[in-house]
Amino acid sequence: MKVLFASSEVAPFAKTGGLGDVAGSLPAVLREKGVDARVIMPLYACIPQKFKDQMRYLNHIYIDMAWRRQYAGVFEMEYNGSIIYFVDNKFYFAGDKPYDYIHLDCEKFIFFSKAVLSLLPTIDFRPDVINCNDWQTGPIPVFLDTFQDNPFYRGIKTVMTIHNLKFQGRWSLKGIKDAMGISDYYFTPDKLEYYKDGNLLKGGMVYANKITTVSETYAGEIQSHEYGEGLDALLRARSNDLIGIVNGISYTDWDPATDPMIYENYTLETLQKKVENKKRLQEELGLPVDENKMMIGIVSRLTDQKGFDLVAYKIEELCNGGAQVVVLGTGDEKYENLFRHYAWKYPDRFSAQIYFSNEMSHKIYAACDAFLMPSRFEPCGLSQLISLRYGTLPIVRETGGLKDTVNPYNKYTGDGNGFSFANYNADEMLGVIWNAMDVYYNDRDAWNHIVANAMNSDFSWNVSADKYIRMYQDLTGIYDIPEKKTENVAEKDVFESTIERDYAASNDAVASAAKEPEIVQVKNPFESEEEKAEAKPEKKAVKKSAAKKTVKKAAEKKPASRKSAAKKADETETGETEAEAKKPAVKKTVKKAAEKKPTAKKTTARANAKKSAATPAPAKND
Ligand code: GLC
Repeated sequence: MKVLFASSEVAPFAKTGGLGDVAGSLPAVLREKGVDARVIMPLYACIPQKFKDQMRYLNHIYIDMAWRRQYAGVFEMEYNGSIIYFVDNKFYFAGDKPYDYIHLDCEKFIFFSKAVLSLLPTIDFRPDVINCNDWQTGPIPVFLDTFQDNPFYRGIKTVMTIHNLKFQGRWSLKGIKDAMGISDYYFTPDKLEYYKDGNLLKGGMVYANKITTVSETYAGEIQSHEYGEGLDALLRARSNDLIGIVNGISYTDWDPATDPMIYENYTLETLQKKVENKKRLQEELGLPVDENKMMIGIVSRLTDQKGFDLVAYKIEELCNGGAQVVVLGTGDEKYENLFRHYAWKYPDRFSAQIYFSNEMSHKIYAACDAFLMPSRFEPCGLSQLISLRYGTLPIVRETGGLKDTVNPYNKYTGDGNGFSFANYNADEMLGVIWNAMDVYYNDRDAWNHIVANAMNSDFSWNVSADKYIRMYQDLTGIYDIPEKKTENVAEKDVFESTIERDYAASNDAVASAAKEPEIVQVKNPFESEEEKAEAKPEKKAVKKSAAKKTVKKAAEKKPASRKSAAKKADETETGETEAEAKKPAVKKTVKKAAEKKPTAKKTTARANAKKSAATPAPAKND
């Protein structure tokens, strides 16, 4: 099975948010599981030179963009065992960051999308599935529909993954028509037109074979008027093709036991060392060093989406509630200034780090006791997953991926890996923060129990990558990866042999079509004939060894993955395995949360009463 991941950002080459992390980690896991997953992204000028030095020129073509003709080069490099392709065009990708103004970006990513498809015959890789990500790659399924005259493209399936529905690539209809250069047929309200504008994400959502988003709850939410960003009707219409698969995080990049960026490594067994991280961070940030002070962290884009209006509304109380608060991130000026102000006003309990530093984020995840994420909406959220991994208890609003990954603490059953509140309401948020503080200060055993639950939760890519594979299988009918014999072997074998026969026939057609590409290949002016001759065998060698590795890994992997799948099935059905005893019962969340509500209120009231008795009057007035 061959899958091409098309993304406008991929860590570590270029990243502005969670999309970069996902595109940088999921394909590698798919590869370990036997899928030939490769990645394609723009060759931005801002990609660090050390990566550019490792890239190899493969080919170039010229493509038509309405009345323009644009150069599109393609480079390749291997990174952590995965092949990454980079689309080169110095005019579009010259900026010092991936994104500029929306109209420039729309044209830029229309070019990228067309280039991705047009370059495929020149790179010797015909994917079975192209997994598009966010609006920047929305035009791919649309262009694919216009490429059907060429047999090379027939049968390629597309998936449109939505990481954030708020961003849609919306521009004037004229602008989008002009850049895409396709027939007016595509620009009606049931296709790319959207309230008289053009909408690139909508195009992807209409033409992709499947739509996915990054958590189950968000997949449900976006079909409602409240979360649908004007596309809820389309999502409801396509609900049979819409699935939510929660993101994972890289458990090697994020591991408190080995993380080289934190002050002191720790595991669940050596949890006492976590507190060293708190003391050292307090020292570094100039906060009073006190290992018994609860520390709450925020690492985020400082925007409305992340719920900072709730924090702004209650910040005075938060500062006077008995905890230290540390914020790291940049974003809307109003929030940056708000946090700077409170750091000035309460230097002994509020620290505002208004910049972004990967290293500082690692230190904060390791040092804090709790992590606040009161998002208005959250397609998945990665920070709460990192917090769980570092035993830093998330305090979240029950929306999108936050709802699917954080199971609120229930003091009667001991279940839960964090704290959560349902309504987008500042009082509710503060009530839950007091509740968490109450447990931290007055019931440390319970706190440590929740920390254990958090650190035992598994949000590595393992389970979610299997779900992607299952979807690709359903979409293509190709089962040539290790999972193929996990169940119902006899039935599937019959099915597969038919599929394989059909595929062999269609591949022959594809191969002969690929021999006469319609795209004119132009000689690379920067490469001599000798260089080209040298480069060719090298390229084949790289690919062969990569392919061999995959097969070997797949063979090694097979029994293990089957075993873990079987174990998982046992766990969910009986609920009695060792792992389950340690883990929070995710399925029970809804019921438990419902049971918990009245008690939570009581606890909150008690905590509040306790707090108001214990809290000193504010040191300064606003
Ligand atoms: C976006 C979403 C975030 C998600 C990430 C990766 O940044 O806002 O919730 O985790 O994409 O899918």
